[in-house]
Amino acid sequence: MHKFFFVILLLSLNYFYLQAQSIQLLCSGVKTSLRGLSAVNDSIIWVSGSNGTVGLSKNGGKHWRWFSVPGFERRDFRDIEAWNDSTALIMAVDEPAVMLKTYDGGYSWDTVFYDTTKGMFLDAFSFANTEYGYVVGDPIHNTPYVAETKNGGNSWHSLSLPFTDTLQKGEAFFAASGSNLLILPGKNDKHYHTYMVTGGTASRLIIDSVFYSLPLSQGEESTGANSIAAYNRTLVTVGGNFLQDTIAHNNCVIITLSKQGIPSFSMPVVPPHGYKSCVTFISSNQLIACGTSGVDISFNGGKHWKEISEESFHVCQKAKQGKRVFLAGNNGKVAILQL
Ligand SMILES: *[C@@H]1O[C@H](CO)[C@@H](O)[C@H](O)[C@H]1NC(C)=O
Ligand SMILES: *[C@@H]1O[C@H](CO)[C@@H](O)[C@H](O)[C@H]1NC(C)=O
Ligand SMILES: *[C@@H]1O[C@H](CO)[C@@H](O)[C@H](O)[C@H]1NC(C)=O
Ligand SMILES: *[C@@H]1O[C@H](CO)[C@@H](O)[C@H](O)[C@H]1NC(C)=O
Repeated sequence: MHKFFFVILLLSLNYFYLQAQSIQLLCSGVKTSLRGLSAVNDSIIWVSGSNGTVGLSKNGGKHWRWFSVPGFERRDFRDIEAWNDSTALIMAVDEPAVMLKTYDGGYSWDTVFYDTTKGMFLDAFSFANTEYGYVVGDPIHNTPYVAETKNGGNSWHSLSLPFTDTLQKGEAFFAASGSNLLILPGKNDKHYHTYMVTGGTASRLIIDSVFYSLPLSQGEESTGANSIAAYNRTLVTVGGNFLQDTIAHNNCVIITLSKQGIPSFSMPVVPPHGYKSCVTFISSNQLIACGTSGVDISFNGGKHWKEISEESFHVCQKAKQGKRVFLAGNNGKVAILQL
């Protein structure tokens, strides 16, 4: 009898193992293409997208409240950073470049950044902690636009950094998922390092202000790096060619930082299946990447990737103080990864 139950147990474990890793849709149908995602914890999830739309769930995605930001109904909010269920920051990329902050859970929004400079196009922001953050925008006079905040996005100051190179003509940042910029604490709390990835005619990694070429697809407007994620000294960047999203080579690079912070590059043995707009670490070795080509995961730090869904998603993120991994995409889709 015990043996019988043991066999059943083994069979069901095997069943669950084979069934493992799927994407479960939490909601869809709202008329917006979502590229901004910020999960505060396993229950508080914010998303932002086109048609001036912001969404908030306070119960892990069961119920959603959708906001049309007054005066910005036609804008595309490509990135969002949330602190809790009342405070969040969004960006509308260009014409003019705007950042808005809510303190009351999305009902009202204050303009905290407004710039009408011609050619200004914001791509992503990233925060090292609740106060210190960084925003990157497309080049003005061939130099990346960067600004910092020391008060959680309430005010911003543009920076002129000692870049070792300029961006090439046709090289810029993609605003695909708000994740082509990372800001990580350095040795002490007052010191930060920034990691940005470019695409287009060239695809490069910029660490603080030093440029490095990436062995990724490049040379066309639609090619290059879209996203970068880090776990300790390992970074992973993904991209490819969004106009030919089934091309499954030169779409992912594993970056190892030396103790001095110098990067070395290696390619996956089995790359993700096609163009990816976002990558994120789930744990020290586990990663998820998504794009219009579908969703892939890796269990060995990005060396081997496995496709788990053909469904298109633009952005994926693990809850900042939690375990769950969420995805968002076109048609107001939000989903959760089942591991
Ligand atoms: C934005 O809203 C309009 C009008 O409802 C709709 O036709 C369009 O498809 C929406 N765009 C997206 C990306 O959902
Ligand atoms: C998320 O944070 C809120 C506010 O601090 C808290 O009430 C809620 O219990 C948290 N949820 C989880 C799953 O940690
Ligand atoms: C939400 O986070 C902001 C920024 O850290 C903080 O000022 C505010 O008090 C928090 N609100 C709640 C309700 O926790
Ligand atoms: C990552 O860094 C943290 C903090 O320095 C350390 O505690 C942890 O062991 C490291 N993890 C790995 C997998 O190296």
